[in-house]
Amino acid sequence: MGKSQHFEKDLILILDFGSQYNQLIARRVREQQVYCRLLPYKTSLEEIKKLGPKGIIMSGGPSSVYEPDAPQCDPAIFSLNIPILGICYGMQLMIKQLGGKIYGSSKREYGKSELTINDACAIFDGIPNCTIVWMSHGDSASELPKGFRQIGNTSNSQHAAVANIGKGLYGFQFHPEVVHSREGNKMIGNFLFSICRCSGDWTMKSFIESSLEKIRIQVGEERVILGLSGGVDSSVAAVLLHEAIGDQLTCVFINNGLLRRDEAEKVNRVFREHFKINLHYADRSDYFLNALEGITDPERKRKVIGEKFIRVFEEEMLKIGDAKFLAQGTLYPDVIESVSAKGGPSATIKSHHNVGGLPDDLKFELVEPLRDLFKDEVRELGRELRMHDDIVMRQPFPGPGLAIRIIGNVTKERLEVLKEADCIVVDEIKKEGLYKEIWQSFAVLLPVKSVGVMGDERTYENTIALRAVTSLDGMTADWVRLPYEVLERISNRIINEVRGVNRVVYDISSKPPSTIEWE
Ligand code: XMP
Repeated sequence: MGKSQHFEKDLILILDFGSQYNQLIARRVREQQVYCRLLPYKTSLEEIKKLGPKGIIMSGGPSSVYEPDAPQCDPAIFSLNIPILGICYGMQLMIKQLGGKIYGSSKREYGKSELTINDACAIFDGIPNCTIVWMSHGDSASELPKGFRQIGNTSNSQHAAVANIGKGLYGFQFHPEVVHSREGNKMIGNFLFSICRCSGDWTMKSFIESSLEKIRIQVGEERVILGLSGGVDSSVAAVLLHEAIGDQLTCVFINNGLLRRDEAEKVNRVFREHFKINLHYADRSDYFLNALEGITDPERKRKVIGEKFIRVFEEEMLKIGDAKFLAQGTLYPDVIESVSAKGGPSATIKSHHNVGGLPDDLKFELVEPLRDLFKDEVRELGRELRMHDDIVMRQPFPGPGLAIRIIGNVTKERLEVLKEADCIVVDEIKKEGLYKEIWQSFAVLLPVKSVGVMGDERTYENTIALRAVTSLDGMTADWVRLPYEVLERISNRIINEVRGVNRVVYDISSKPPSTIEWE
């Protein structure tokens, strides 16, 4: 495994104290081509030593260091001779654990602040003496530990940036990872390169090289099965695995009848004909549609689809024959043992959406070649593997498919109406060049009929709701201010071209309190 050791040579460890910005810190580090991992703050000293990071970032968090249950890391990390950058809570904890004092400031500081740099040390290399940073804290340092000095201040925060330069320990009261901190990236870069001496050679090319090797070592001569959905993650995983092990990989693609128009044909064409991947295709539309008959409750729909999917998958596997491994397109955000997610909203949302997944007790060993990557890194990887933007830049599509976009009964006829309308939405959004910047744009078929006129005749037909949202991760979302002309074109085309629809409405709700999907 020589190469993979090389690949993780420059590891930066981010200790997670629960800040909402933690994944952002990881993204900022990786954007500068340095590999990093986000681990819980309680990670043991032994584990940290074993990982041998070149630097540690202690994240922010919602607690106050003097709270009885305030999260603490092992203070022995400060004696490891590894550079450490504490951000917000991370800085306060560092100061407290090293013998300084923190007080609950009466002047809380949120939002933009002007940082004055008064010590031209390495972390501020190439940064103007005065710059904008993003603050979000209530506590401040009143007394610094021995060996520390102030290196920057704001009008409300005497110790906005502190350092013990000899020991490579730095603390920022502000958040360099958020875009509003104008020179934040540069400061993180200075920490990575000047202070931790990282080399910045973690590129997608190097990732592919080491992944191919890892996959080959893990799999040996055995066969691997991958459930292909046509979405970005499973598609990129399929192509990467195929590159590593060729015909040892078989992809299983199940058509549940709830896919978008032409989706099944497209997946077959791209994977079988273009990438020459072994593809086992099973059209089980009727089976799923029969099972959904008469079911209107959203959670019931999900449950039925989930259960049937597992059964069908098992049946299809029997046809393929023995395989030792099951590959999955698990991503890094699903793997992170996040402090903030525990019991919080993201944990709940994950389980609710875990439809179309497979149970844990399958007899396979798992291969998860994307489990180190964030979503846009997966997209970059796909491009590097010469995959087309049509796949790599796809908007997310829910596992239960169009079933949760047909409010009420799912029938063949209603599916046809929705498929036609959905196709027009995607087509017009793409023509307008908006597809990539919109998180999701789609049609929903409502169980509402209303009166219209067409020619001289009165109609009594279905309503389509149009939904388009921007989002970073699906957890929160805002509706897109689509130009009137685009709305007009979509509405005209749907009403004229889709039989059975005489009204189109636009959904202008944000999440929260609404959700992205209607069911
Ligand atoms: P909501 O509607 O909860 O959706 O705001 C957030 C994101 O999750 C997707 N979604 C699902 N994905 N199975 C999935 O695989 C599901 O049951 C499911 N429900 C919602 C939704 O499309 C959005 O991206």
